[in-house]
Amino acid sequence: MNVTILGIESSCDDTSVAIVQNRKILANVTANQEIHAQYGGVVPELASRAHQQNIVPALDQALRIANIELKDLSAIAFTSGPGLLGSLLVGTSFAKSLSLSLKVPLIEVHHMKAHILAHLIDDAGQKNPTFPFLCLTVSGGHTQIVKLNSASEFELLGSTIDDAAGEAFDKAGKIMGLAYPAGPEIDRRAKLGNAERFQFAKPKVPHLDFSFSGLKTSFLYFLQKEMKREPKFIEENLNDLCASLQKCIVDILMDKLEKAALQEDIKQIAIAGGVSANSGLRKALLEREKKLDWSSYLPSFEFTTDNGAMIAISGYYQYLADDFCDLSVVAKARKPMNL
Ligand code: KG4
Ligand code: ZN
Repeated sequence: MNVTILGIESSCDDTSVAIVQNRKILANVTANQEIHAQYGGVVPELASRAHQQNIVPALDQALRIANIELKDLSAIAFTSGPGLLGSLLVGTSFAKSLSLSLKVPLIEVHHMKAHILAHLIDDAGQKNPTFPFLCLTVSGGHTQIVKLNSASEFELLGSTIDDAAGEAFDKAGKIMGLAYPAGPEIDRRAKLGNAERFQFAKPKVPHLDFSFSGLKTSFLYFLQKEMKREPKFIEENLNDLCASLQKCIVDILMDKLEKAALQEDIKQIAIAGGVSANSGLRKALLEREKKLDWSSYLPSFEFTTDNGAMIAISGYYQYLADDFCDLSVVAKARKPMNL
């Protein structure tokens, strides 16, 4: 019997609807919201409004691409949190209405768990990790190291105590005058620059936790000092600044990931989330794979940033485990890993 799951993602500024059948993606449609770039960050009220405009066309398109009808769906899966409340409310209400009208079960999905479960998608040519594996999940809102014992057992080993890694890229980019989100542009420029040119202090955080706010502040002070001496310092050194900053962030992430792998004695290592698109991080992971005999798992670019497919694949596993919710479910801006 086919299990066909609709996945709805609306936790931040991407409206995404996907259809997964037996771990294979039939459609994954994402409407990005360009409107936020001019404000230097996501404006929650605008994001929520754009989700309302995008969600029906995204569903229509997904059904057309998958070549299925609403009546073929086994269940509706949606992101209930964590994320921006106004954005989450759009996807949550939409999923509830669909479930009610189609009389199909409803599945509440955790956004951060879904980023990891994207690794279980049956994507031609892409190998899947086996349990247990570790995942470094790095996005604009989170930085976590998670151990997965099964598709439903998640153990949070460490997380950021302040800014997320994506936030560090975006905030440092803003200081350098780059448009939001600055991560992809820093990545592009880093390839053209000298990563050894500038050194920034790495935070000393115990255990497997992270901190990025100190790096942002020291980066700001460093630039202010240099600009006093040479007002054109940023534009004349932009590629080297991007390369050095990226190297520092990647080193911080990889050092903790290596520590976690050693502590847990696990060599199956995955990365996930928007920052997992970063070429420096991908390269560093492949280097450690060679050095430490890891099996590493890099998501396809399509599944690095927020997408409906990761919600649908999570829904697929929850469907098999009879993990459904009822219409009293609510969106949760904060949602710990144990919910
Ligand atoms: O997972 P995601 O799409 O949304 C959140 O849930 O936050 O991640 C977005 C984050 C942004 O901070 C963006 O700058 C960062 O991912 N990002 C990157 C790259 N592509 C996206 N950061 C560094 N290098 C990239 N290539
Ligand atoms: Zn995300």
